[in-house]
Order: sequence, then C-alpha cells, then structure tokens
Amino acid sequence: MSNLKGKDILHASQFTKKDIDAIIKNAIYFEKELKRRSSLNLLKGKILATLFFEPSTRTRLSFETAMQRLGGGVISVASAESSSAAKGETVADTARTVAQYADAIVIRHPRLGSAKEAANAVPIPVINAGDGAGQHPTQALLDIYTIYKELGSLKNLAVAMVGDLKYGRTVHALAELLSLFHARLYFVSPDLLRMPDEITSSLKEKGIEVIETDDLFKAASASSLIYMTRIQKERFGDLSEYERVKGSYIINRSFLDRLNKKITILHPLPRVDEISTDVDNYPGAAYFRQMRNGVFVRMTLLSMIFGKQ
Ligand code: NCD
Repeated sequence: MSNLKGKDILHASQFTKKDIDAIIKNAIYFEKELKRRSSLNLLKGKILATLFFEPSTRTRLSFETAMQRLGGGVISVASAESSSAAKGETVADTARTVAQYADAIVIRHPRLGSAKEAANAVPIPVINAGDGAGQHPTQALLDIYTIYKELGSLKNLAVAMVGDLKYGRTVHALAELLSLFHARLYFVSPDLLRMPDEITSSLKEKGIEVIETDDLFKAASASSLIYMTRIQKERFGDLSEYERVKGSYIINRSFLDRLNKKITILHPLPRVDEISTDVDNYPGAAYFRQMRNGVFVRMTLLSMIFGKQ
C-alpha cells in the first residue's frame, strides 16, 4: 500500500507492517482529536456511498460516523431490497451508478469477490466491508488497533481465534494481519468449521506457528488474547449442520475464573450466545471498546484514501 490515495481496500494482504504502523498513528491522532471536538473539516465536500446488501450495524454506522466526523457527506443503501439489486441489477452496474454520485464506495455483499467486481467497474476507491465468507479488511485493521491499545504492543502475541473459522471473514482477514507480527495462532473450532486450508497453509509457509485444536481451554491458557466469533448461520447450505455446531464454544465468567489469569477478549460482534453477558464487566472484555475503535480506524482509512492524512 504505502500510499492509499485513490486506492481500493479489498483484502488484508495489501497491507504491510509499515502501513499498519501509519494507520495506528493516525487512528491515535483521530481518537485524540475527537476528545477535543466533535468533527473536523478534512473531507468537506466529499461524498461516501455505503452499499450494504447484507445486515450491518457497526460497520455501516461507523463508516458513516467516520465520514461525517471528517466533515464529509454520506449516501446510503441499507439493504438489497431497497435498491435496484432487488430488480436483478449486477454489482458492477450498481457500482457504476453510485460512482456518478459519490467519491468513494463502501460495499458489503453476500458473494465472495463482489467488492472486487465493484472496484473493477469504477474509477473511484472501493472499500470491501465484507464479501461473503471472504474478507473484511477494515475490521481486521480495527482489531489490530484494538489489540495494540489493549496489550500495548503487537510483539510476541499468542492469539486464540475461536468459533466459525470457515465462514468468518473477520478471522480470515485478521489472521493475515497478525502474520505480519509473527503472532502464534491457535485456531479453535469444531472440525466442520476449520480455517480454510489455503489460509492455514499460506500462514505456515510464511513461518507462522499455527496450532489447530478443538480445545478452547488449552488454547486460551496458552494465549494472551481470545478472538471470539459468531457461528455464521446464514452461510450454511444445510441448516442441520448449523444445528450440530451451534453453541460449540461459550465463554462465561466461570470459564474465565477457571483460566485463572487475565486475558483480553475481542469479538467483532454481533454475538449470539458465545460470550455470556456476565463477561461484559470483566476487565479484559474489550469488545465494546473494539467497536468504538472502528470509528477512528475508518476515519484514518477515509482520510488516507482521499489523500488527506
Ligand atoms: C462481522 C461480519 O459482518 O463479518 N461483523 C462485523 O462486521 N462487525 C461478524 C459477524 O457478522 O459475525
């Protein structure tokens, strides 16, 4: 990456360690600025379009908040049903349309590769906010920012990624970024929901220590961080398979008491039942701080894309 001006954000693999350092620095700056004032003028006159063809609360609203806090404007499609996608319009044609109105596009769509299709169709920057079970690079960047803030460093990390590693785009993207920092990775899932082979083998080729297990307690004991995920019910072709694996891993206060050490817990949210509410006031429970960090990181990415960092 190095210079994000005018570029798309489609895949976590486009970022280097140096890029992440710059993103963290800028996010710290925006976080500080927002303590002093509610908005900046950096992107005055620019318009961001958010196109969400799948449900979203945090990602869409934090992008829209980020753009507005930077002084820019937002236009939005909040569901496939409310746009011409419902009439059968292709992603490429929708993107071409939106590019007539906006200066950048954020898109979430159920199909793998959809953000790239949009990016190929238009001259303006396109940001992938989740393409099916593929990637979610901006989530991974805000996860990294959160880890940096919670643990104080990205060195010598041991991370347990837990739950739906097969369909979870957040873990696909985050594993990629953590590999830049040579983190040790525990992949904890039921057999049916293992991390895709191509991801695991590419991590191993890079020399990353990857341990696959179904034993959450063992992995958590060896880790400083648990990254919990929701089982992605909407991606199962066969719902009886979902019934078999739902509720596989649950973190509650008694689990943490048994662990008998402080651990940081992240979750991209939404949660279903995988983190009990009795964990919410545990000091290491960072998932609500994590979602707030989304605003600072997305302000950073937007300002970089528009060449205004
Ligand atoms: C995630 C997503 O949409 O991939 N949510 C998010 O962006 N914060 C995770 C999920 O839906 O489980």
